[in-house]
Parts: sequence; structure tokens; C-alpha cells
Amino acid sequence: MIKKNEIYTVTAVDDGFGGEGIAKIDNFTVFVPYLIKGETAEVKILKVLSTHAFGKIEKLITKSEHRAEPKCPAFFKCGGCNFLHLSYEKQLEIKKNQVAECMKKYCKVPVEVADCIGAENPYNYRNKAQYPFENEIYGFYASRSHRLVPINSCLMQNEKDEGILKVVSEYIKKSKAPIRHLYTRHSRENTMAVLVSKTAKLPFTNVLTKELLSVCPEIKSIIVNVNSKDTNVILGEKNITIYGTDTIEGYIGKTKFNISPHSFFQVNSKQTEVLYNKAGELLGENCGHIADLYCGIGSIGLYLADKAEKITGVEIVESAVKDAQINAKLNGIENARYILGASEDVLPTLIKNGEKIDAVILDPPRKGCHKALLDCLLDTEIEKIVYISCNPATLARDLDILSEKYTISTVTPVDMFPNTQHVECVVRLCRT
Ligand SMILES: C[S@@+](CC[C@H](N)C(=O)[O-])C[C@H]1O[C@@H](n2cnc3c(N)ncnc32)[C@H](O)[C@@H]1O
Repeated sequence: MIKKNEIYTVTAVDDGFGGEGIAKIDNFTVFVPYLIKGETAEVKILKVLSTHAFGKIEKLITKSEHRAEPKCPAFFKCGGCNFLHLSYEKQLEIKKNQVAECMKKYCKVPVEVADCIGAENPYNYRNKAQYPFENEIYGFYASRSHRLVPINSCLMQNEKDEGILKVVSEYIKKSKAPIRHLYTRHSRENTMAVLVSKTAKLPFTNVLTKELLSVCPEIKSIIVNVNSKDTNVILGEKNITIYGTDTIEGYIGKTKFNISPHSFFQVNSKQTEVLYNKAGELLGENCGHIADLYCGIGSIGLYLADKAEKITGVEIVESAVKDAQINAKLNGIENARYILGASEDVLPTLIKNGEKIDAVILDPPRKGCHKALLDCLLDTEIEKIVYISCNPATLARDLDILSEKYTISTVTPVDMFPNTQHVECVVRLCRT
């Protein structure tokens, strides 16, 4: 029986999905963060449960060829990334394996999984960041806590943030302004800086504006967001624009989107384009009437609008429906309409009302599709479904249900979040 606080020499026999190695001590499973398959290490046991244990590397004895030097000094403290100790090639391999394992475990028909499509540049890909401030000190919260880990910059974020952060920090030091977070959003050309403040009125904002523009001339919008409540929600409801415009324009490929502090937008614009192109390829041309279910601000449907005669977007959040309508107008797309409601209620109603739907796009949240929606899809004659998913386990569960009436194509994983364990997938289902 293995014992807590004892040190054992182990070799990882497999890679877990969260950047940990899986080792065996007398056939008992031990999860060891940052250990890579094939590596041997002296490991201290931290916790023993009935079926498995957790350990920590005390000394690495042999190194995997896939081990990379984490480029971030805060890697082992900050809760943002968990794959920085792995070569990018190995990260993609682990993501593909994660998807394949889920398919084997939760889907009764065999499903092929393609190689994970990686990013050209796995760094500086995020277009949105939230940095907590404690007075003039800023950084990120440690994993699952509200303990601030001070850092000057983050490798996943836009490089312009470093200068903006320094200016805001200096400003807080001098003015004692009650700023709790800096929130930035970037598009190809424009930047929005949002100062989340306890009070609506901030001192010397003209000086702050001048300094922000001098380090980042791309700033087209500076907003004070007022949040006096002590909750986990970062943004308050009220936005006061103190410089420039209330919104900036973001792009996925040629499709334009209006971005306000509150609006949802995919965080990795470049890989979103890769994902949507793959979805478009699977969808094919001349798709007739497409139902874009779980449509958010309409991004996928609008991006693929030229493949459809008509698009019906369905989304449960009212502000997202309004944004989708604005975005359709912004792109001069006239064949798209948006319905506020739950996909599992709206689709059956549309069908009951005699609307012919030729193809469906599904992009549900992590919990996957509602069972009633899957039942409705099984009961109707819709030819084609393109399913985009951020959770391979619920994707596999839903594919298992739909496999009763649909043939499943190869699942393609796309790396939208390099250096983290997250993976997005896209797959096509054709009526059999
Ligand atoms: C993963 S996001 C996809 C957003 C969008 N397709 C995109 O790519 O930007 C899932 C969306 O489904 C919405 N949602 C959650 N449950 C829903 C439901 N039952 N019916 C319709 N929309 C729902 C969420 O508000 C969210 O916008």
C-alpha cells in the first residue's frame, strides 16, 4: 500500500489529459502533474484515495524529448496554462488522444479522429484579457483561488497589454483610483481598454488617456466599467466611454463583429477562422435553410452565410440575439433571422409550423445538447448536421445518440487554446 509523504521512483506510463503523467506503483494509479510519458522521477505522494493517488515531482531522473522549457516565469503558480512544459507537437498529440479516448468510452459506433489542427503561432493568440489589480499590483489569480500572482505580461495575451498594464499601474499608484481590473479586447486593428472601477468618476482621466494612447496608438476606445459589488463577476452593468467609441469592430476572416465590453466573442480569432472553414467544408455548398442552433452572436452562421439560402439562428441569451441581429446588418446579410429561446423548444416548433430545414449547425455549451433536441433531430428528416463542440465527452455522448439515424464523419480537433488542455472539435453527421 502506498503511503502519503513517502517518496517513490516512478515512470509515467501514459499522459493524462490535463498535463499530468500517469504512473503505477504496484499497479496503483498515481497522477503526477508535469510528468511526461516515459519520464522517470522521484515523486512525493501528496494524497491517497481508494482508487488512485496524487504525487509531486521531487526530482526528475530522465527527461522526455517532448519536454519544453516553460517560457513563462509564472507557469507553476498561475492557473492559466497547464501544457507549457510540453512541446507543441506533444500537446496536439495529447489533445487528439483525449478526443479518441472519449469517442471509445462514450460512443458505441467507431469514430475516427483526425490529427488536431494546431495554431501557426501558439502564443499571443488571445484577443481578450482580464487582469486583477490590488492597488498598483497586477497579475493573474492562482489556480482555483483569489490569490494574486504578480506578472508583467502573459505569453497567451496580446503583446500590447504589457505597456497598457504599466500605464494603468502607474496611474493607480499616483491617483489612488479604485481600479479592480483592467480588461482589454483586441481586434486586428483596434484595441479597447476597460477600467473596471468601484466608482464611476476617476481622477485625471485625460492624463491617463494620453499616456495609454502613447503606449498603444491602436486604442480606439477607453471605457470605465462601474462595479461596486463584491462578487466574482468582473464587469458591472454600467459602461462610461471616456475616449473614442463604445464598441470596436472585430473580424473572423472577412466577417465583421461589433464588440462591446459585455459582448461574447471567440477569444482566438485566427483559429476560429480555421474551425469555421473546416465547418464550412463539412457543410458543403448550397445548403438551403440552415438552423444555427446555440448561435451566440451569430458568428458561425454569418461566416458561412453564402452557403445558405436562409439562416435561422437560435440563442437563449437576449443580448446575444440582439448582437447577432446587429452583426447580420453590419455585414449586409439579409437572409439571417434570430430567434430568442432554447434550441430544444424552438427547433420542434419550427418543424411543427412546416418550415423545411436542410442543415443544422450545433455549437452547444460544455454540457452538450439537450436530450429533447437530439430526440427532435432523430425524429425529423434533416439531412446534415455539423456539430462543433468544446467538450469531447459530451460530444461523444451526443454522437452515440445520433448514430441511430446518422452516419458520423471523422472528428477533427482544432486547437483553439494552445498551451492549455482545452480542445474544440468539429464533425459532420449525414442522415443514413
Ligand atoms: C459554445 S457557445 C457558442 C456560441 C456561438 N456559436 C459562437 O461560436 O460564437 C454556446 C451558446 O449557446 C447558448 N445556449 C446555452 N443553452 C442554450 C439553449 N438551450 N438553447 C439555445 N442557446 C443556448 C449560450 O448562451 C451560448 O451563446
